[in-house]
Amino acid sequence: MDAIVRGRCYTDGRPVQQCIGISDGKIAAVSGSLDGDIVYDFGSKLVIPGAVDIHVHMREPGATQKEDFASGSLAALHGGVTCLLDMPNTNPPTTTSKTLREKKELAASRSYADFGLFAGVQAGSDIEALSREGAVGVKLYMAGTTGDLAATSPESLKEELAAVAKTGKVLAVHAEDESLRGRGSESSLADHLKNRRNECETSAIRRLLELSAEGLRVHICHVSARESIPLIANARNVTSEVTPHHLLLDKDAMLGSFGKVNPPLRRREDRQALFAALKETRFDAIASDHAPHTTEEKEEDFDFAPSGMPGVETTLPLMIQLVRERHLTLEDVVRRTSRRPAEMFGLNKGRIAVGYDADLVIIDPATSREIRADDLHYRCAWTPYEGRLGVFPKAVFLRGEIMIEDGSLIGERSGRDVV
Ligand code: NCD
Ligand code: ZN
Ligand code: ZN
Ligand code: ZN
Repeated sequence: MDAIVRGRCYTDGRPVQQCIGISDGKIAAVSGSLDGDIVYDFGSKLVIPGAVDIHVHMREPGATQKEDFASGSLAALHGGVTCLLDMPNTNPPTTTSKTLREKKELAASRSYADFGLFAGVQAGSDIEALSREGAVGVKLYMAGTTGDLAATSPESLKEELAAVAKTGKVLAVHAEDESLRGRGSESSLADHLKNRRNECETSAIRRLLELSAEGLRVHICHVSARESIPLIANARNVTSEVTPHHLLLDKDAMLGSFGKVNPPLRRREDRQALFAALKETRFDAIASDHAPHTTEEKEEDFDFAPSGMPGVETTLPLMIQLVRERHLTLEDVVRRTSRRPAEMFGLNKGRIAVGYDADLVIIDPATSREIRADDLHYRCAWTPYEGRLGVFPKAVFLRGEIMIEDGSLIGERSGRDVV
């Protein structure tokens, strides 16, 4: 055994004081006592699987003033995210074999965390080729949002769904109905919500489920409207994700354009319904939709400010804080931050069990601290959660190597493509 990690390990749905033996970056044994060359003894601290964030925008290539693979993946590790899935709305967009191949090379040389890359659906994109090139999944935008990826036309949607079904890949969807989007000018979060009402989301989800092809695995990104919950709960072959911002923030947050995001922050009732659904075991994943923009861009007039907010570093800390406050159980969180997301994308991650990658996060659940943008690692240097409490990892292991300890990077950069 190369190394042993000792602590209260979250294995079968509850924490048990035991040892994790690591060999060649994988978990080789889980047992009451083990011997190894190096022993990391974390006493009674909690050991959970590294988080798999299935929805992040690393902004590279094309918008590295907002973030890049190095800064974004380092922020991810500091927040307990050992694997991230990057979205294709970069510049150029990841919609051809060539752009996917180039982004893979870029990420492999720059990422501190393991990663997978989504390919985007665009008129004429060769989904079969993108799948062969090693996309982790396929992303479809049903409405215009940040970036150059055009909304697909209703006519081509059915064909595209059938093409993705053939590849066997998960189709992750930004579900907002372009035709129901309001065009009124906006100066507040309430105005932004008026232009992207709850029906905007439910209508898109309904249409998607109607047209969905045989065998297609649909994943609904960032579910935000309370009326969407029953639609998803009753559908077959459909998974879904919820974000911390839709759980914790609403249109009354005093954030101005820094709270502008798609789908929008909605009403308190929506937020509460999402929270209740999470406790009732709805939603497969909690994902950040980490979508950084610079302070200068966000300080534009509300109408012109881009949509999106950063979050990859604060997702797990905020969720563990909710466990600490007894609003959620550890199982509610760990299941959605690691086990299920890894399962959905067929990754050898997300569990503390023999054979899985030794991606581990050590947590002291009794120690939270105020979130401060100054302490985070985003290039954009702001957070919508300034001043809130979060439980940050004490240490983070990536494939058996200790990468982060007490808030400092101590490991060598070694992020790998998971496909
Ligand atoms: C995202 C972005 O900025 O890339 N913006 C957002 O408001 N969520 C795009 C997206 O996920 O829709
Ligand atoms: Zn989206
Ligand atoms: Zn997104
Ligand atoms: Zn509380």
